[in-house]
Amino acid sequence: MMAVAGAWRALKPVAFIAALLPLLGLIAALLQMGSASLGPNPVRELLHATGKESLNWLLITLLISPIREISGQWQWLTIRRMLGLWAFFYALLHLAVYVILELELDWSELTQEIIRRPFILVGLASLLALLPLAATSTQRMMRRLKKRWQQLHYLIYPATALAIWHYYWQVKADVLEPLVYASALVLLLSWRALQRSNAFGRLD
Ligand code: HEM
Repeated sequence: MMAVAGAWRALKPVAFIAALLPLLGLIAALLQMGSASLGPNPVRELLHATGKESLNWLLITLLISPIREISGQWQWLTIRRMLGLWAFFYALLHLAVYVILELELDWSELTQEIIRRPFILVGLASLLALLPLAATSTQRMMRRLKKRWQQLHYLIYPATALAIWHYYWQVKADVLEPLVYASALVLLLSWRALQRSNAFGRLD
């Protein structure tokens, strides 16, 4: 019994370290830049890695509810907010790499870029949808917004859908990976819809 309690106590630090590791990997790769560990185009590599991490952590965050419901263990919920914030953090890092390293803070270039690569606007929309979630992620906001908090936090679904669309739009040939992400999101949405219809069924 004690061992089980200990294992649940370890969940939060383990999840934190799991989300931190890709960042440490990127920092380590950057420090070895001389030996070209990030490949011939390090900025592109950083963009890809941070974009992917953000999307991965969004989907893992969405996976927490089904895991909780299937396992019947509420403790899983204790890591959901932290994982969502990690997804947001990687999205901010992705934007920072783009604006600082790729555009070199040249704002006039941004307009040209958006015309040339409109998928960037979809990424921006995804980030904007994540913004109110991060801003209201505290316990205080949760208590203040009550039922509206839950409704607001459903924004994670359109934010993830936009991120997948952003990804799908910019890959030229190999659409397999974005399609795998899209299928995962459809599965998660179907699960949510099924849970809702069951809940309504129970009310009848
Ligand atoms: C301000 C918002 C954003 C901007 C300006 C932006 C920009 C970009 C750019 C320039 C690329 C690289 C395209 C290339 O290889 O030519 C990219 C790729 C990507 N972005 Fe974003 N993005 C934004 C938001 C997001 C968000 C919020 C997510 C995820 C939640 C995301 C996920 C991705 C993914 C998964 C890729 C592809 C990575 C790969 O090819 O492996 N982006 N983005």
